[in-house]
Amino acid sequence: MERLDKLLASTGRWSRREVKSLVKEGRVLVDGVPAAAPEQKLDPALSRVLVDGEEPDIRQYTYVMLHKPPGVLSATEDARQETVLDLLPPDLRRRGLFPVGRLDKDSEGLLLLTNDGDLAHRLLSPKKHVDKVYCIRTDRPLTAEDAAAFAAGIVLADGTACRPAGLEVLGDGTEALVTLHEGKFHQIKRMIASRSAAVCRLKRLSMGTLVLDASLKPGEFRLLTGEEVIKIGGKP
Ligand code: URA
Repeated sequence: MERLDKLLASTGRWSRREVKSLVKEGRVLVDGVPAAAPEQKLDPALSRVLVDGEEPDIRQYTYVMLHKPPGVLSATEDARQETVLDLLPPDLRRRGLFPVGRLDKDSEGLLLLTNDGDLAHRLLSPKKHVDKVYCIRTDRPLTAEDAAAFAAGIVLADGTACRPAGLEVLGDGTEALVTLHEGKFHQIKRMIASRSAAVCRLKRLSMGTLVLDASLKPGEFRLLTGEEVIKIGGKP
């Protein structure tokens, strides 16, 4: 059960103070009856709320799939640089969304933004082994030896041991699919550096069951479908 004012404010359309006025003016109906108070509790999955006859989206949690473009920070705010939150419209920005895991500033691809802290925790927990798949381009062709080193577990220059990872070399060898089961800082760049090569381009294609929608251009986003939310373990 959630408070009516919290649910309506979480849509980003009204502040809690505005919700108070709406309720006072009798403009909010809960299951056809004018809301008694902003503190009134209800189950958003079971009750129907109308404001001025319209049904706002009062789902408790929001899940956004963003095709992060290069050049934008995976952060909620920054004094000088553009962040992924800046790519969203104001009503979504006000919902307390944050990126689940980071992509480097120059990386692109799938980024999940949500206000569901439990889900974020589960997806990022090293114990859960959520696979992330990336397409990379490198400055030299990668080989079967590089793939074997990834499969054995790369040790980074500073001694950090990485878990075994997938490296599927494509085409002429300068493109590859990398599958990680963990998320260390600049992990792929550092793994590739340990093989005396450099990453020129890095794009995340998927995270667990969530796959980047091919119709989203860099900088575009959409809400997850109900099915995607369920599959990834969120609350639709
Ligand atoms: N590994 C990296 O090096 N950078 C990313 O953005 C993601 C994975």
